[in-house]
Amino acid sequence: MINKIRKKLVIGYSIAIIVILIASIVAGYMALSRITLKMNQKSLFLYLANEVYESQEMLKAWQTNHHLKTRIRQITAHKRSFNNVVYWYAPDGRLLMAEELASSISPKLREKLDAWNFPSGTLQNILVSSAEGKKPWFFMMVSQDIYDDNNTYLGRVIVGTNMSPFASIANKYYLVSALIVLAVSILAFWVGNFFASKAIKPIKISIQKQKEFVADASHELRTPLSILLSSVDILKKNESNRELIADMKNEILNMKHLINDLLVLARSDSEKENLVFEDFNLADCIKSVVRNFQSLAFEKKIDILFSSEECIPFYGDENKIRQLIAILLDNALKYSQEKTQIKVTAMATDGDILIKVKDQGVGIPENQLNKIFERFYRVDKARSRSTGGFGLGLPIAQTIVQAHGGKIKVCSKINEGSVFEVRIPIKSS
Ligand SMILES: Nc1ncnc2c1ncn2[C@@H]1O[C@H](COP(=O)(O)OP(=O)(O)OP(=O)(O)O)[C@@H](O)[C@H]1O
Ligand SMILES: [Mg+2]
Repeated sequence: MINKIRKKLVIGYSIAIIVILIASIVAGYMALSRITLKMNQKSLFLYLANEVYESQEMLKAWQTNHHLKTRIRQITAHKRSFNNVVYWYAPDGRLLMAEELASSISPKLREKLDAWNFPSGTLQNILVSSAEGKKPWFFMMVSQDIYDDNNTYLGRVIVGTNMSPFASIANKYYLVSALIVLAVSILAFWVGNFFASKAIKPIKISIQKQKEFVADASHELRTPLSILLSSVDILKKNESNRELIADMKNEILNMKHLINDLLVLARSDSEKENLVFEDFNLADCIKSVVRNFQSLAFEKKIDILFSSEECIPFYGDENKIRQLIAILLDNALKYSQEKTQIKVTAMATDGDILIKVKDQGVGIPENQLNKIFERFYRVDKARSRSTGGFGLGLPIAQTIVQAHGGKIKVCSKINEGSVFEVRIPIKSS
């Protein structure tokens, strides 16, 4: 499945990049050809304007001498602007004079111009086919009817420019673009593969964790269920077994507790927990949780000391914060020997709220400090089972702290004790 997702991501990335590239190449080509065309049109009209006065003089001279032969000058690149051509026609349509390209294409262009019947001043694109197998030439032409001062029609001048070099530049542009698209496609595929693998990594980890989670959860639920099952079997034989019923009740409560915890975690996964934010006094909130734990602590001859300022204004979900403190206190009590002390402190520091729960308990091995926040993780599996833990308290605590935008960390020394430190940024309502 992961590989399928990766393939899809790579193909998606690559197609997106290639489409963007092709779109920008086409847009670039369109913009470039439009600008080139406009520039050439402008210079063609300027060229025509330059020729008009000269043409008037010249056509007048031809009027007085009808017997002069047609003069055609072939212009090579070094003599004049290589791409421009100009043709003068008498009123009867006879070509009088021409300045054209020194190319075998010129007679063919002339043939086409002889049939010119477009109105004065309109631009025309003319294609002239060249030798077999070669691309046709492309000219942009415009004509102007010439009159003398008495408004007598003297003839027509047609000027044009050879656009073929631009067409061949466009072809090269296409070729270079195709090569770029090919190179970028290969690169996109490679880069896509790299990023897809990176993007998939957290998903892979999350699927792995999910699998472990389901395995652990089913394992945890199977144990009490088998206990209940065997107890029911015994009960069937002997109905007056009070102890067994008490054990069964315990196991049922355990399962209820576990399912509750699983539900809390599942909800926090699927949606950002629906926290109910409100203003409250954090000092009072912690104090009342500590009070609830005093009787349990008394049984274990453990002192719980709480110190904080009188009032710590806090904006957050009071019930969740209570649950957080309860989880930390529950652990501190569970993992401490008799006649020890637990210190709970709360204070407002620079922009943060700092809560510490410090015990003198069994401590946590250094190499497991970052694992205890994982679901179902217990340092001593056998002992925790006997103390009724599932390894879900700290993951829930972490979810609560993170939902408030804070961080939780732990320092611990084996046989000396642990300190859990919660830091939450102060928000205002
Ligand atoms: N204050 C502590 N001192 C020593 N070890 C601790 C302390 N708090 C947590 N641990 C260790 O971290 C593990 C995970 O704690 P967590 O609260 O998540 O689970 P639990 O207490 O075992 O079970 P649950 O909280 O679900 O009833 C515990 O099993 C324990 O090994
Ligand atoms: Mg716990």
